Amino acid sequence: MHLWRTAVKHEFTPEDDAFFRQCLSELISQPAIERLKQVPQHKGGTTYAHCVNVAGTAYRLAKRWDWEIDIRALVYGAMLHDYYLYDTETMPYSDYRHSLIHPKLALENAEKLFSLDFRERNIILSHMWPIPGAPLPRSREAWLICIADKLCAHQEIRRNKALRHR
Ligand SMILES: [Fe+2]
Ligand SMILES: [Fe+2]
Repeated sequence: MHLWRTAVKHEFTPEDDAFFRQCLSELISQPAIERLKQVPQHKGGTTYAHCVNVAGTAYRLAKRWDWEIDIRALVYGAMLHDYYLYDTETMPYSDYRHSLIHPKLALENAEKLFSLDFRERNIILSHMWPIPGAPLPRSREAWLICIADKLCAHQEIRRNKALRHR
C-alpha cells in the first residue's frame, strides 16, 4: 500500500497548471470541439461547457489527492467523453438507453477525428461506470473523469434548474 501510494504521488507545480491550460486551449480551439457548443446538455447547458467543467474538476481532484497523472490524456478524455453529438431532448433513444450507449457513440465519433490510445479510449468508455455494461476505469485519469463527470452533472442539473425557475 505504501509503495503504491508513493508511486502515484505527485506534487503539482505552476508548470503543471500551465501545461493543463495549454492542452485545454489547444483542444478547445479546434472546430471539432467548438462544435460541442451547439449540443445542449443537462437542460440549459452545453456539452462544451460540461466537458470544460469536467476537465477542470478532474484536474483539481488530481491536485487535491496528489495523483500523478498524464495531463494531456486527462484533458483529451474530458473533452471527448461525451462526444455523441445529439440533443438528448430530441434523441430517438430512452434516457436509459442513452446512458448505456452514448460512451460507445462518443468513442466512435472521436476516433474519426483523433488518434486515441488505450487509456483515452477507456476514459471515454468507462465514464458511466458503474452502470450495467460500462467497463471499469483502468487508470487514474479514467477514475478522475468518472468521478468528476458525476459531480459536474449533479452541479449543472441543479444550477440549470434554479436558473429556469428564477
Ligand atoms: Fe456521458
Ligand atoms: Fe459527461
